[in-house]
Amino acid sequence: MCGIIGYCGPKEAPRILVEGLKRLEYRGYDSAGIGVGTDGRLTVIKKAGKIRTLAEHIPEDLTGTFGIGHTRWATHGVVNDTNAHPHTDCSGRIALAHNGIIENFESLKEVLRSEGHTFHTDTDSEVIAHLIGKYYSGDLEKAVREAVSLLRGTYGIVCVHAEEPQRIVGARNGSPLVLGIGHDEMFLASDVTAIIAHTKQVVYLEDGEMASITPSDYRTSDLKDRTVEKAVEKISWELQEIERGGYTTYMEKEIMEQPESIKRAMGGRVEPEQATAHLGGLNMTTRELINIERVNIIAAGTSFYAGMVGAYLLESMARIPSFAELASEVRYRNPVVERNSLYFAVSQSGETADTLYAMKELQRKGASVLGICNVVGSSIARASDGGVYIHSGPEIAVASTKAFTSQITVFYLFCLLLARMRDMSLETGLGFVRNLQQIPEKVSQVLQSRQHIRELSQKYCGYRNFLFLGRGVNYPVALEGALKLKEISYIHAEGYSAAEIKHGPIALIGEETPSLFIVSDDHLKEKILSNMKEVKSRNGKVIAVCPKGDHEIMDVADDTIEIPSTSELFYPFLTVVPLQLFAYYCALELGRDVDQPRNLAKSVTVE
Ligand code: F6R
Repeated sequence: MCGIIGYCGPKEAPRILVEGLKRLEYRGYDSAGIGVGTDGRLTVIKKAGKIRTLAEHIPEDLTGTFGIGHTRWATHGVVNDTNAHPHTDCSGRIALAHNGIIENFESLKEVLRSEGHTFHTDTDSEVIAHLIGKYYSGDLEKAVREAVSLLRGTYGIVCVHAEEPQRIVGARNGSPLVLGIGHDEMFLASDVTAIIAHTKQVVYLEDGEMASITPSDYRTSDLKDRTVEKAVEKISWELQEIERGGYTTYMEKEIMEQPESIKRAMGGRVEPEQATAHLGGLNMTTRELINIERVNIIAAGTSFYAGMVGAYLLESMARIPSFAELASEVRYRNPVVERNSLYFAVSQSGETADTLYAMKELQRKGASVLGICNVVGSSIARASDGGVYIHSGPEIAVASTKAFTSQITVFYLFCLLLARMRDMSLETGLGFVRNLQQIPEKVSQVLQSRQHIRELSQKYCGYRNFLFLGRGVNYPVALEGALKLKEISYIHAEGYSAAEIKHGPIALIGEETPSLFIVSDDHLKEKILSNMKEVKSRNGKVIAVCPKGDHEIMDVADDTIEIPSTSELFYPFLTVVPLQLFAYYCALELGRDVDQPRNLAKSVTVE
């Protein structure tokens, strides 16, 4: 995710900004830049790549006592020097850094172009600099206020003007911004990590608020220019603790981020009144969407399991035959590409070789392949014929967690879009949207039960083998739960359809092999309950993930992890999170390197 820092005070701004950006590195980024003001001039330096590359390009004699810095994690436009922030307006007197996504940037850009503005980047952010330039008439704060009131989407911004020395103006909506109060110096940042080495006195801005800072003073206000009095808070964390945002590991941070990352994957894509979805990047006409007769999903690992959830949904709700297949298998089986089939390649990193090569093989045979990726500008995103970014933010831990829930979010949206073009009524669509919009809050509730899950992990992490069992839309979740456990704790685990145990795996059941069942309140519950009893009668321990207060399940299981209820098809969001936490705490308990488990890499660029 992008990071922001702004500084004004007596020290050398370039040094403070670069130091601050280094502290934001943990968030993941692909380029960085600074804009420094001195003697009525602004100097902007930006570079793709690491902060040390940026630092090497900053002239030794660059001085200045105010400025802004940014680490970019590309969302709009490829990774290069030009698309890096800060961005300037036409006059070159205004510099701006932005976190977030501006949804109406294309229409704003069109208007600005017709008024004579020239754009140099492919980013959504550059329009904000131009808007501020358009409204500037000697008062930066006023110009920022007018500009942001036209934006739709999310932003955390900092902005400087060459002729307003030592003033930085910031504004926030949906992307965090914090003001730091030092001795004769002030800061604005997206994250306290960037400034904690200088001050622990901070003011957190809320959505719809702005801040204007000088070395000796600050003002916080709303978009109507009314002063907002804000409490000054003291950061209690130490520097070392917050480098992973206060979490011990990236994996824990990424699991905990899911309510937010799911919201981001949905951001601006749901049309609640029409009960449909808007996925701009598909590059497909309504006619082409209506003509789809089959959906094929290719992926690897966790992304494959997300694809299985997607296929299940598309078939049950949109009534389109849909299949998920391992990309590594597709490539070498000489696949038949049928007319009116749509293909999806799902990949967090966008670099997985198996998926990329399978995709190219399919394209060679005439298939149209859309990407569902997290990393913007990645190989799969570039090679696809269209697609959807999941906007999870960087996933740094090797084990994929938040990407899974964001990938399935995109499938729910795509399913809604297609289903509403077919049999789904407005009323059913409205219910679908309601259920989807409640998911982030329900995921937060699941995360609140993590202490209980931790205690269960402590109780069970000594076992050497596990079965993970689920059915229907939760069958892929069982596979994902088993994968998570084996990859980070090195405990052997197998995922199966609960119905399948009688065809073989039941031979493993005994005191030494616990089974983790995923049960939701759907038409398959009674059948799973019977499978649980079969395990119990063979002395197998049973842990059940089930809806809150389900006594039928609780009476049979040895231990339960309760989750909130939802509509039948929406359970994967709520059932996967306890399994991520279970694997995570087992691995911690066993002293494993959770973020970088042995033998694994974050993106698998070899076959
Ligand atoms: C599991 C995991 C892997 C990846 C797989 C595909 O936690 O991380 O199984 O899901 O290597 O990676 P992407 O999604 O980057 O194509």
